[in-house]
Amino acid sequence: MSQETSQATSQATSQATSQATSHATWGGRFSEAPDALVARLNASIGVDQRLYAHDARGSQAHARMLAAQGIISPDEAQRICDELTRLTAEVEGAPGPRGEPWAWSEALEDVHMNLEAQLRARLGDAGARLHTARSRNDQVATDTRLWLMERTDLLLARLEALIDGFLTLAEAHEEVILPGYTHLQRAQPVLLAHHLLAYVGMFERDAERLRDARRRCARSPLGAAALAGTPFPIDRHATAAALGFEAVIPNSLDAVSDRDFAIEFTSAAALCMIHLSRWSEELVLWSSQEFGFIELPDAYATGSSIMPQKKNPDIPELVRGKAGRVVGDLVSLLTLMKGLPLAYNKDMQEDKEALFDAADTLLDCVTVTAALTPRLAIRAARMRQACDQGFVTATDVADHLAARGLPFRDAHHVVGRLVRWCIAEGRALTDLTLDEFRRFYEGFSPDILEAVTVEASVRARQSEGGTAPRRVREALAAARARHPRP
Ligand code: ARG
Repeated sequence: MSQETSQATSQATSQATSQATSHATWGGRFSEAPDALVARLNASIGVDQRLYAHDARGSQAHARMLAAQGIISPDEAQRICDELTRLTAEVEGAPGPRGEPWAWSEALEDVHMNLEAQLRARLGDAGARLHTARSRNDQVATDTRLWLMERTDLLLARLEALIDGFLTLAEAHEEVILPGYTHLQRAQPVLLAHHLLAYVGMFERDAERLRDARRRCARSPLGAAALAGTPFPIDRHATAAALGFEAVIPNSLDAVSDRDFAIEFTSAAALCMIHLSRWSEELVLWSSQEFGFIELPDAYATGSSIMPQKKNPDIPELVRGKAGRVVGDLVSLLTLMKGLPLAYNKDMQEDKEALFDAADTLLDCVTVTAALTPRLAIRAARMRQACDQGFVTATDVADHLAARGLPFRDAHHVVGRLVRWCIAEGRALTDLTLDEFRRFYEGFSPDILEAVTVEASVRARQSEGGTAPRRVREALAAARARHPRP
């Protein structure tokens, strides 16, 4: 056999072998198909298929850059881009070349290999050239970041709607007074609008955190390739700019192994869920007969299958409960990344389920809370009546004495005795006479009879950030200026 013949034979043999046994994803290195359970465990297509549009966009930007740099031909780049646009449409329901519906393949592992396999099947060499100077490691990080940037923008818009809901409710009930609580004991009267503005403060911080996390998410890992960069003369700034990233991640190892962006987002999401859970808990309490402060809109409440009289606050309860899920997602991600050596590790494939769950759950909970909050029926009379019990103006009595020279600690003691007497006698602070006040301390002046009322108590709290109507009006107007009515 001549050398030539023998080479040809061995080439043909190796091609045949590769066709018979090579692996759909990993190619010639493998001589055995994966075990069925391995294939299932290894595949992430069930979770990451929702990245298809971002994967296609990333590939298009990469292909254009390869052509601009003379690494593939302009014609190849064009065919890749056109085919990716078609593939995206097919994933979204357009029929395939033979009229067939799009189907994901578990054997092809993930969204990246699924799209690329189709591209190769349809375009041959041109499709196979797309993966030049790229790896799934920089590809998946790019896709996930692009998805999260978009999700963050959507969430920020919904948070704005949530804040608007709180402001709308506050504006509609500017005068309403309810007891403020500490330890869930009636403490001092406050304006409902003041209470609602406290949540506006929380959600504004949440939005601030999301915007801040987005800045670091918007940095491009593309071009880091597997971990060390690539010998091809790529232009990372071109792909970054084409995809809407604000910068390029300078270190290739960091680019493929960093998941801080997912953790930062999920941490901000968890904290926002904590805030939503606190409001939800108040809705559960306030809608109970014991409080009777609000009624939930029917569209956002549920009934009981056995007790016909019930109107249950299931939605706030669920939001409260789902805060636990998102905290779990955060813990999953932190635990996932802890102790991982550089650079990419397959563990990181698990990041998406937690990240997607956190983003989806938060979006739903923000949206439903934004919808129900401005529609709450406020039982203003019940809120005001609740201020008539519980000696909520006792601090005002002590303040009255302290303003007249008695050291506050001593004033506190005097009023403590006064309250104890009222409890024993079944009296309220508001129906005591001046003589009765003076039995406990002779320095009471006649204006105590006014100072001890609920309205005067609220009016008196004029310090910056306090609940005095003047302050709350200012705060509400300032918040409205920051969040104009849509
Ligand atoms: N599906 C993989 C993931 O989500 C893509 C990256 C795979 N990279 C690799 N070297 N196996 O993480």
